[in-house]
Amino acid sequence: MKFATALLSAGLMAGSAVADSFPWERLEKNNSVLVILDMQEGLFNLARDWDANLYRDAMMAHSSIGTIFKELPVIMTTSAENGPNGRLPQEITDMYPDAPLIMRQGEVDAWDNSDFRAAIKATNRTQIIIAGIVTDVCTAFLARSLRAEGYSVWANIEASGTTSKEIRDIANDQLIRAGVNVVSLFAIVCDLMRDWRHTPGAAEVFPWIDRHMPAYGMVARAHRAANENGTLVPGQDLLPL
Ligand SMILES: *[C@@H]1O[C@H](CO)[C@@H](O)[C@H](O)[C@H]1NC(C)=O
Ligand SMILES: *[C@@H]1O[C@H](CO)[C@@H](O)[C@H](O)[C@H]1NC(C)=O
Ligand SMILES: *[C@@H]1O[C@H](CO)[C@@H](O)[C@H](O)[C@H]1NC(C)=O
Repeated sequence: MKFATALLSAGLMAGSAVADSFPWERLEKNNSVLVILDMQEGLFNLARDWDANLYRDAMMAHSSIGTIFKELPVIMTTSAENGPNGRLPQEITDMYPDAPLIMRQGEVDAWDNSDFRAAIKATNRTQIIIAGIVTDVCTAFLARSLRAEGYSVWANIEASGTTSKEIRDIANDQLIRAGVNVVSLFAIVCDLMRDWRHTPGAAEVFPWIDRHMPAYGMVARAHRAANENGTLVPGQDLLPL
């Protein structure tokens, strides 16, 4: 509810000031960076605000954004991974054998680590896409540090997880107030793609959709089957288009 209230008040404020000039910053694939933050095996069980199967897929889907948009620099980081927090799942590190993996020895906020700051700065990009475990600490601390440094931040709401829905909601509310774009995975992918006719576009994004968004992937499969060898059963031809 706090989430909705913040959204509403932001909208009303923008509306009452200059209704025609709401500042919508678009994600640019030539100016954005994908951060995979502390999605560690030992932290996975703290992501209790999502079903575990759903959340594992959301982590993989977030991590794989850089496999579609190959021009995005990818930065992986972990917190004290030799301890109970554990490693990033190998499926994730295997996606980017050449990307930096910054193993923080103690810093909770990734921005407190000089190697991580240097990796972000080395990209010379200003739009940072993040998600991690847990939402209220790893994601929220880094997102606000980045905002304080003048970066634009997109927090993928589906791929950060924390201990309860209440904690998730106050953390996301805090992010919205810090000017973070708290958005869905599909919003990130669609804004990076911008137009289905681009490259990456439909040809690159549909296989990813089929894997990570079956609600639409199955429609696409059924549409293909109908198109290639479909026939109408009696009654279907009577339906409005
Ligand atoms: C990124 O691409 C957009 C649109 O093509 C262009 O307007 C912008 O100048 C580019 N930015 C950089 C940093 O290259
Ligand atoms: C960094 O980006 C800015 C603005 O897009 C550009 O003017 C500058 O040349 C870039 N620097 C490097 C080292 O790429
Ligand atoms: C196409 O559909 C017909 C039945 O409508 C079926 O007999 C045939 O095997 C199908 N062909 C393919 C290639 O799926």
